[in-house]
Amino acid sequence: MHAPLAATSAGADVADGAPDVVRLVDVKRHFAETAALDGITLSVRKGEILGIIGRSGAGKSTLIRCLNGLEHPDTGEIFVDGQSITGLSERQLQPFRRKIGMIFQHFNLLSAKTVEDNVALPLKIEGQSKTERLARAAELLDLVGLTEKAKAYPASLSGGQKQRVGIARALAARPALLLSDEATSALDPETTRAILDLLRDINRKLGLTILLITHEMEVVRSIADRVAVIEAGKIVESGPVWSVFANPQANITRSLLSGIRPQLPEHIASRLSQTAGGEAILSVDLAGPAANGPVFADLSAIRPHAFRIIHGGIDHIQRQPVARFFIGVPVSDPSNLAFVTQFLTGRTAQVEVLGYDTDHA
Ligand SMILES: Nc1ncnc2c1ncn2[C@@H]1O[C@H](COP(=O)(O)OP(=O)(O)OP(=O)(O)O)[C@@H](O)[C@H]1O
Ligand SMILES: [Mg+2]
Repeated sequence: MHAPLAATSAGADVADGAPDVVRLVDVKRHFAETAALDGITLSVRKGEILGIIGRSGAGKSTLIRCLNGLEHPDTGEIFVDGQSITGLSERQLQPFRRKIGMIFQHFNLLSAKTVEDNVALPLKIEGQSKTERLARAAELLDLVGLTEKAKAYPASLSGGQKQRVGIARALAARPALLLSDEATSALDPETTRAILDLLRDINRKLGLTILLITHEMEVVRSIADRVAVIEAGKIVESGPVWSVFANPQANITRSLLSGIRPQLPEHIASRLSQTAGGEAILSVDLAGPAANGPVFADLSAIRPHAFRIIHGGIDHIQRQPVARFFIGVPVSDPSNLAFVTQFLTGRTAQVEVLGYDTDHA
């Protein structure tokens, strides 16, 4: 069956209609022959968690660097809080950089400074007094559950604790947007879960907008509201997480999902034939309200023995059921396949005949 269910996101349309914290319009960035960003148009809406997912080399870090001003687009425009940052000087970029907090895969803490000094560092750069800085650091360490480590040094912390410090530091200057570049990639699954829960918590408590870059669909699944899939510098697909998971269009999306969606067992997949006979093997995808109904029970009641369930399950993403099953339909009665397909399609399922298992009598 499917991965354990841990749907914690709010509704799919959580940030619909909210203003854009960041907007990119047709952003391009080339390096010699490589189009690292090839016309990216994208908005991050206030209060949402947007996941950007793509393979290595897809352009994710280049996108982040353009957002925090470390890299400049060749063409296109970037707006932060409604203002264009295109063509600004280093000095003019400063106030915009302050609106964007960032967390990293390898935490990037200063080893010679205590936890509280690491957290307070962005405020020192802002010119706040020591008392103000330490008060703010204490507040943030409380938020991330690390109050007792205020005087510790990074070397004495676990990876998860280091990332909590990283999160506290990123929030010190009260950014409008938190950028996360593979922030959980160096952590074990349990610690990853705890950090993702913390980010979700902060998103809800403070209404913090988060742009999360990852190559892991599980990260997107567990906390993002929307997802954009990037491939060779282009957004190839985007939408509410549950609907992209339910009905992925691009090959890259299907491939990134293959680890966490049910797949036809290999021993069956490897013997599928395209010549009709035995049993037709179908994938059946159903999502949203349609997946709440007794679809298979109804089909069985109308036409007993027309199919059997081989594999699959129902996941719940953003409180929406997302079902994916593989069924076998005997074709000894030639009308079976058309009947089953028509019935399921009528219940808004996406049905695909993957082939025939002629060994199955
Ligand atoms: N400074 C640079 N000079 C030349 N090529 C670059 C530079 N930065 C990025 N590239 C190229 O642009 C493409 C996108 O790189 P980028 O680092 O944005 O990918 P990514 O999606 O972050 O990959 P990963 O998941 O491996 O971190 C790659 O082909 C990379 O080789
Ligand atoms: Mg990268």
